[in-house]
Amino acid sequence: MQAYWESLPEVQSVLKEKVTADPWRLTYHQMPVTGWLNDPNGAVQFNGTYHLYHQYVPETPNGGATHWGHKTSKDMVHFKEEAIFLSPDQLFDEDGVYSGSAFVHDDKIHFFYTGNVKHEGDHDYTYSGREQNTIHVVSPDGFTVESREVVIGHADYPAGYTDHIRDPKVFEHEGVYYMILGARTRNNLGHILLYRSDDLYEWSYQGVFLAGNEDQGFMWECPDYFELGDREVLLFSPQGLLPTTYHYHNPHTVGYLTGAVNWDDYTFEPKTKFIELDHGFDFYAPQTFEDESGRRILWAWMGIGDTEPEYSNPTVARGWQHAMALPRQLTLENGRLLQRPLPEYQCLRHNIKTHRLSEIDESTLKGEVYELILEFDETPSSFELTLRQDTQLTYQDGLLTLKHGESGFGRRKRMIPLADLSQLQIFSDTSSLEIFINDGEYVMTSRVYPKQDQQLIHVKGDAQGQITYWDLKL
Ligand code: FRU
Repeated sequence: MQAYWESLPEVQSVLKEKVTADPWRLTYHQMPVTGWLNDPNGAVQFNGTYHLYHQYVPETPNGGATHWGHKTSKDMVHFKEEAIFLSPDQLFDEDGVYSGSAFVHDDKIHFFYTGNVKHEGDHDYTYSGREQNTIHVVSPDGFTVESREVVIGHADYPAGYTDHIRDPKVFEHEGVYYMILGARTRNNLGHILLYRSDDLYEWSYQGVFLAGNEDQGFMWECPDYFELGDREVLLFSPQGLLPTTYHYHNPHTVGYLTGAVNWDDYTFEPKTKFIELDHGFDFYAPQTFEDESGRRILWAWMGIGDTEPEYSNPTVARGWQHAMALPRQLTLENGRLLQRPLPEYQCLRHNIKTHRLSEIDESTLKGEVYELILEFDETPSSFELTLRQDTQLTYQDGLLTLKHGESGFGRRKRMIPLADLSQLQIFSDTSSLEIFINDGEYVMTSRVYPKQDQQLIHVKGDAQGQITYWDLKL
């Protein structure tokens, strides 16, 4: 029997026509050639080349059994589409080569991912319907596979969990290798499990690295642990956090804790509370890596699973869905993660225009694919910026609000309580907005779908300061 992806070129060429004709196709963001994209996977820089793998279903924009798509870059800005790296073609991953990470050792890349297998039965909640095997892939170059084998079979996970144990991330500490996995307990709590290995091939379970309580979601996906500055950071994507007034308004969220690993009992001891990483509508399942110059870089999916019922993504009809957010450099300052766009993206800047905010009217600036920096002389008491068709960013009474109109396709608003507003750095692409606030203190990431030629950049209110605009061209 022909495997379904063997007919991919024909299926893809039909979708490709639609995607190519779509004015909402992104320009300087990474998106699927056709079909569906979700989490970043295996992010790594190896012998100078950046590799970005990602969850990918090229034959349909609606998702399904995921492959690992593959893009490479020399500068993190210009990417080349490579052949699919891994497909769901083994018994241990036949329903999806799910998310995972890369670890460089002895001049080879070791990838770890979750092999998803669906059985008859309830796939979502029980412990009888699914396998999530942990697979180890060795590659000499990031393109070819030298070995691919199960290192933790589904039956070998500890008792007390549902079938949801996935998304391995591997790191080293004092010559020993550790793997963390996200898990959902049988009573619906999020846990992170820890394994250890002396050689990357044999793994033994050490216990629960961190356990959530009933207020912290029902499943924790995509855990990531790293040291940054003098702190240790644990980043993860909890599903099902209950919304509070200003937080967790997406069905699933992303956040981090800083703290320290207790290496005697292999637990993570948080020293700070959970801090949400992005306050927009489309941000999930991020993964970080350290590049060869020592920077901690974060890739994230500019999308989300299980979106709000009132939202429908109009690019599905155009043969594709979802994209990657711009890669961000992470630093830890005063105990908080700051996220800044990679400076490499400045090479896209053209046609600079600078104005005092008080000088501009509706016809001064217009644009679709651009970067905008607003520097305020002091925190404005009231400020309103209208972008593209009808997206508004307002600041009033200590609240920064991102509000979509029709071009949000059902999305409404997200808010951040903010005592001071000193700076905004906004990246607009054909169908996305990323708003970095106060030099990376907060970020709001959102897809947006304006009609063509809707290029408003309009400021109202009493804000004093400077606005700088660049066209961005790849
Ligand atoms: C997060 C996630 C991961 C899983 C992958 C499957 O978005 O659900 O937990 O490995 O996507 O595509």
